[in-house]
Amino acid sequence: MEKIFGLIGQTVSHSFSKSYFDEKFFREGLRDHHYELFPLNDISEIENLIQTTKGLSGLNVTIPYKEQVIKYLDEVDPAAKKIGAVNVIKIQNGKRKGFNTDMDAFYETIEKWLPKDKRFHALVLGTGGSSKSVQEALIKLKIPYKLVSRTASKGKYTYTELEKNHSIIKESNLIINTTPLGMHPNTNTMPPIDYELLTPDHFVYDLIYNPARTMFLQKAEMRGATAKNGLEMLHVQAEKSWMIWNN
Ligand SMILES: NC(=O)c1ccc[n+]([C@@H]2O[C@H](COP(=O)([O-])OP(=O)(O)OC[C@H]3O[C@@H](n4cnc5c(N)ncnc54)[C@H](OP(=O)(O)O)[C@@H]3O)[C@@H](O)[C@H]2O)c1
Repeated sequence: MEKIFGLIGQTVSHSFSKSYFDEKFFREGLRDHHYELFPLNDISEIENLIQTTKGLSGLNVTIPYKEQVIKYLDEVDPAAKKIGAVNVIKIQNGKRKGFNTDMDAFYETIEKWLPKDKRFHALVLGTGGSSKSVQEALIKLKIPYKLVSRTASKGKYTYTELEKNHSIIKESNLIINTTPLGMHPNTNTMPPIDYELLTPDHFVYDLIYNPARTMFLQKAEMRGATAKNGLEMLHVQAEKSWMIWNN
């Protein structure tokens, strides 16, 4: 029987997930497996999608639905529940169960990348679904962090505060972009921070992988910072999704 997997999100055409799984299914001779892109204008459309797509066995979830999707699931894995975001859904016997592979994928890739002999203080730009996975990974890594949001609220900086208080960026030697700013097709946008404050002592991680070098990464590299994009994270989370769907 045909098995359908796919990606739901508001705009999904930028994603590399389809080519990743198309190549994987081809390589592994899984001719009856297919990976489709399912753009949804509203998360409530997931109901109709699941009911009308014969053979639908698994979904990945992307921006902006990782948090909103939870109420459409029958069950949520405890780790994903704790994080508060779901990026993988397994559909079996009509039941939908949510998982989070972003957290482990971010954890594994950043843990390998950061030098072990340096202490980090992180600044996480954005407070959405993937930011929650990043925060959980930073807790696991014992890296203290602060959040930056467009909206003022307790425990978070705003971009205006960063502009006024230069010490925040100077003292945060790890800056992680979890916003969509710079993502294809809006490649000329970037998080509104003062890039002049970055130094060769800074490490910057952008969760975006398309384009490979966002304006955020380019500006940081121009100041001598060490930069990493989200491609490895995408591959690691995709493999973990596959393991969940096949378990
Ligand atoms: N490499 C990977 O495997 C991987 C995995 C997950 C996500 N991602 C990428 O990460 C990005 C975010 O995904 P997500 O699912 O976390 O999205 P999301 O749930 O919509 O969250 C994005 C957050 O970014 C901030 N934001 C949104 N628009 C903004 C704007 N115009 N200016 C400044 N801040 C803005 C918001 O935080 P505030 O409201 O607090 O400002 C928002 O909550 C996407 O580009 C996605 O492709 C990559």
